[in-house]
Amino acid sequence: MKASSISPINIALIKYWGKRDQGLILPYNSSISMTVDGLYVHTTVDFDNKYTEDIFILNDKEIAQESEEYKKYIGRFLNIIREKYNIDSKIKIVSKGNFPASAGLASSASGFSALSTAINSALSLNLDKKELSILSRQGSGSSARSIYSGFVEWKKGEKADGSDSYAEQIINDWPDFRMVICVTAEEEKKVKSRAGMAQSVSTSPMYSEWLLSIEDDLKKTKKGIKEKNFSIVGKTAEENCLKMHAIMMTTKPSIIYWNNITVKIIQSIIDWRENGLESYFTIDAGPQVKILCTENSVKEIVKNCKKIEGIKNIIVAKPGEGSKIVSKHLF
Ligand code: DP6
Repeated sequence: MKASSISPINIALIKYWGKRDQGLILPYNSSISMTVDGLYVHTTVDFDNKYTEDIFILNDKEIAQESEEYKKYIGRFLNIIREKYNIDSKIKIVSKGNFPASAGLASSASGFSALSTAINSALSLNLDKKELSILSRQGSGSSARSIYSGFVEWKKGEKADGSDSYAEQIINDWPDFRMVICVTAEEEKKVKSRAGMAQSVSTSPMYSEWLLSIEDDLKKTKKGIKEKNFSIVGKTAEENCLKMHAIMMTTKPSIIYWNNITVKIIQSIIDWRENGLESYFTIDAGPQVKILCTENSVKEIVKNCKKIEGIKNIIVAKPGEGSKIVSKHLF
């Protein structure tokens, strides 16, 4: 019962930050993302009685089952799978990402969507995309969106059992939309999204304001995406990102994911935008800056970024394909 999958990262344009149900991973608000081409996790799973215990190897390193990282993420998710589908046998999982883990590049989104997609095939669960999105969501919320290609909305849903909280594609193609990803630090972040958002919900005085304005951000962005109106989508995404970081910063104790290079890039984008080079930024739970632009301005933006000291890596990405089964196994 072996299967392999590849699943991309996705970057939210309208962010998910806060859960109404921690166990089922149900968000307070819907979110919208772009599935990113070229940055992915490749995962192979094998359910077999020959294993005496579960094994999880991430980026060539075995993750100990006693570690908090394992218990809070993979171990927890495997318990959900075993209970739901009545599985006794142990599993070996090998996962490899082609980007730095835990640095704000949505590694849990690609990790859990790849794992769910591979498990769906290995156990012949025959889940359709909607059901797969619901399953993957219970591993990590943002992973619900990586199941789909292009531009995607994760609907928050209303039901207590989470059966209406899943992602859906808004559009597949937007050929000239680009994301220039500026990596400013490659070390692991100190506050994981899961802990950070829980702390924000309970302590940030701005959290209720966030929920009041989010419906408007979602509506504008969805319409903008359908009409391929780059200015509306970029502007709304940037505003929404700043609101999320305002919440993070006003969380107690304060969560500041930015470093000095993050700030330098933000200021540069604002400067060059004033001079006619249209682009916007979005930033997740980490210091990397994702610059939203169209194909015709990529060259100039990359040239400008190369002049900013401290950027470790620049990746130009397009909208990409969602998770899929592949025949190449990692073991
Ligand atoms: C800032 O999906 O990593 O990237 O559901 O607890 O696993 P869990 O959180 P996660 O949070 C992502 C937060 C974000 C915004 C987003 O992707 O929408």
